Amino acid sequence: MSKKRILSGMRPTGKLHLGHLAGALSNWIRFQEEYDCFYEIADLHALTTDYQNPSGIRDNIREMLLDFLAFGLDPEKATIFIQSKVPEISEMHLLLSMITPLGWLERCPTYKEQLAQLADREITNYGFLGYPVLQTADIISFKAVRVPVGEDQVPHLELAREIVRRFNFLYGELFPEPEAILTVNPKLLGTDGRKMSKSYGNAILLADTPEEIRQKTATMFTDPLRPYRKDPGHPDACPVFGLLQMYRPEESAAVRPACTSAQLGCSDCKKKLTEILLEFLSPYQRKREELAREPGRLQEILDRGNRRAREIVNDVLAEAKTKMGLYGY
Ligand code: TRP
Ligand code: SF4
Repeated sequence: MSKKRILSGMRPTGKLHLGHLAGALSNWIRFQEEYDCFYEIADLHALTTDYQNPSGIRDNIREMLLDFLAFGLDPEKATIFIQSKVPEISEMHLLLSMITPLGWLERCPTYKEQLAQLADREITNYGFLGYPVLQTADIISFKAVRVPVGEDQVPHLELAREIVRRFNFLYGELFPEPEAILTVNPKLLGTDGRKMSKSYGNAILLADTPEEIRQKTATMFTDPLRPYRKDPGHPDACPVFGLLQMYRPEESAAVRPACTSAQLGCSDCKKKLTEILLEFLSPYQRKREELAREPGRLQEILDRGNRRAREIVNDVLAEAKTKMGLYGY
């Protein structure tokens, strides 16, 4: 039996952090054994919000690709490609734009949220409104049946399904309705106790050097209710503990009573975390450095991925155009 096809994408925001690994990337890596995987670097989606300042996109793609490969995405098993290098996806987006009612897009909760959050960025643009249409084009250009995403992307998947239904209704069955695979996003807190996020500047990056990691953990927030060493701690409210639990569950089980009984001090606890993170990350970082020294190999991986993606999308696009009354073939 042939494997089910999945597609997912990530905007190239640069080096990934521990939250990306725990949420998206570790699942992507796991899925490559089980599914026929297409993983897209969504550079056009990045432009919808960053069109005024696109100079970082190309570097970000490279950094993200290095993290992908170092942590175990295998180009022999999964197809990694760049959205803008598969221009047929953009053409699919144009076709879908014909049949997508504006109201669906204006009502999309992520659209309204982002408009409010990124108020300084002038994103009342056509392209930004169409963000979920482009995402739908990504998915259906491969006739993907499953789409691993976090909770925040559920509205986009709903829209994708609606657009698919409308297409199939208007022109005849062509696309399967894509289903989300909801990847649980373990709630990783950043160094300031808020959700780990690049935009908050509180993230521990997968590629951080030992010095950067030491410095970040040393200044990390702990239990806000433990101002003094002698006070008992509340590990569940402490971002340091969250990371310990994630990377060394056994050890965190021992830290818990030591913390709540005030036997363990926060600076020793942080040292423990530092060692654990360094030990966890260092083999990947070595691989990342090796890869970074081989730009030709990176290019080859992308070229191959882009080519493979195009072969598939070309056919699907021809089918879609034919259904819509155009010269598809
Ligand atoms: N919009 C997604 C995000 O911000 C990224 C993305 C782009 C995506 N294209 C996709 C996810 C296709 C799933 C399928 O996380
Ligand atoms: Fe957090 Fe560790 Fe301090 Fe407890 S001892 S509050 S778990 S840093």
